[in-house]
Amino acid sequence: MVDKKLGGAGLRGQTAGQTALCTVGKTGTGLTYRGYDISDLAAEASYEEVAYLIFHGELPNADQLRAYRAKLAMLRRLPSAVRAALESIPATAHPMDVMRTGCSMLGNLEPERDFTEQQDVADRLLGAMPSIVNYWYRYSHDGERVDLDTGETTLAGHFLHTLKGVPPNDLQRRALDVSLVLYAEHEFNASTFTARVCASTLSDMHSCVTGAIGSLRGPLHGGANEAAMALVERFGTPDEAAEAVRGMLARKEVVMGFGHAIYRESDPRNTIIKAWAERLGKEVGDGTVYPISCAVEEVMWQEKELFANADFFHAAAYHFMGIPTKLFTPIFVCARVCGWAAHVMEQRSDNRIIRPSAEYVGPAPRPFTAMADR
Ligand SMILES: CC(C)(COP(=O)(O)OP(=O)(O)OC[C@H]1O[C@@H](n2cnc3c(N)ncnc32)[C@H](O)[C@@H]1OP(=O)(O)O)[C@@H](O)C(=O)NCCC(=O)NCCS
Repeated sequence: MVDKKLGGAGLRGQTAGQTALCTVGKTGTGLTYRGYDISDLAAEASYEEVAYLIFHGELPNADQLRAYRAKLAMLRRLPSAVRAALESIPATAHPMDVMRTGCSMLGNLEPERDFTEQQDVADRLLGAMPSIVNYWYRYSHDGERVDLDTGETTLAGHFLHTLKGVPPNDLQRRALDVSLVLYAEHEFNASTFTARVCASTLSDMHSCVTGAIGSLRGPLHGGANEAAMALVERFGTPDEAAEAVRGMLARKEVVMGFGHAIYRESDPRNTIIKAWAERLGKEVGDGTVYPISCAVEEVMWQEKELFANADFFHAAAYHFMGIPTKLFTPIFVCARVCGWAAHVMEQRSDNRIIRPSAEYVGPAPRPFTAMADR
């Protein structure tokens, strides 16, 4: 048996390094970026402001924000070789695999030659990721080569515009913007830690981000928002949902979108996205998805004191924005590229290769068994 205090407990509670980027579960609502509370950032700031803050340590002034938005907008176009690669990926592919491939392909065409280029590479990935996933999606699903010059000033607007082919309304634009703010950074979660481990070998930014996308893909991490939608869509009424979820808990099934490795009582991102989900639901005249989601949330708290995490109401919010479920986790990537890249830079600024030890629990030393004796 592995000692539960060690790897068998998923390294829970262990401090694995230092960061000046973010706190999780410590002060205020529990989540801060560079000292600013997530509720203030979600209410007042745009994603580009938050990305600037995370990268540079301070909020941008108006000129800095305008320049940063213009820079990111210039970085949305994709090289023809990337577009050709995306066109060769079938509609049946998992969009997270598409993003992993798109990121890796960019690393071949526009490699990070040395670390002095790291901020430009990070910004390029911020600009390119929405284009990568939506170029592939629109080509493979609709046969359309989407125009990546949308003229949108924000990443949120660009994502929705390229996905639908028309400019989104202001409510949807701001709702997605807030979602990107909520997903931008989250300390030493599994995908960020993946990126930092990769960075600690002095590898390049594209490799770090490609690895992080692979970690985010799993349903215990970013994939939870898609799984939450699949769950909610199974039910026709709140009562049906409540009964089914009680059954799932009795069978010890995991209900995606609930619980958290660090937060113990609530996830501060949930109240924010839940309010947006309610607002968006009213806009589209929803009478099922939001009430069913609330019923699931209630039962989870009543039965197990498990609270909805950031992913659960993101499902309803994205659904009301008309975003296909398979693109939910890729939006998480578009936002979290910022956090990953900032952690890569932070790791590089004070690096020692991350190389923990394992407690050995295998056979005792023994003599080699000759082939004839096996
Ligand atoms: C996030 C998660 C991986 C954290 O795992 P963890 O740190 O091991 O969770 P905890 O230690 O708090 O789990 C405590 C207990 O609650 C149970 N539990 C936790 N989350 C649960 C969920 N979503 N559904 C049902 N039971 C859950 C665990 O199985 C455990 O039960 P046990 O004591 O009988 O073994 C886990 O809550 C989970 O799998 N959630 C669903 C996936 C998800 O939403 N991921 C996105 C995270 S932002």
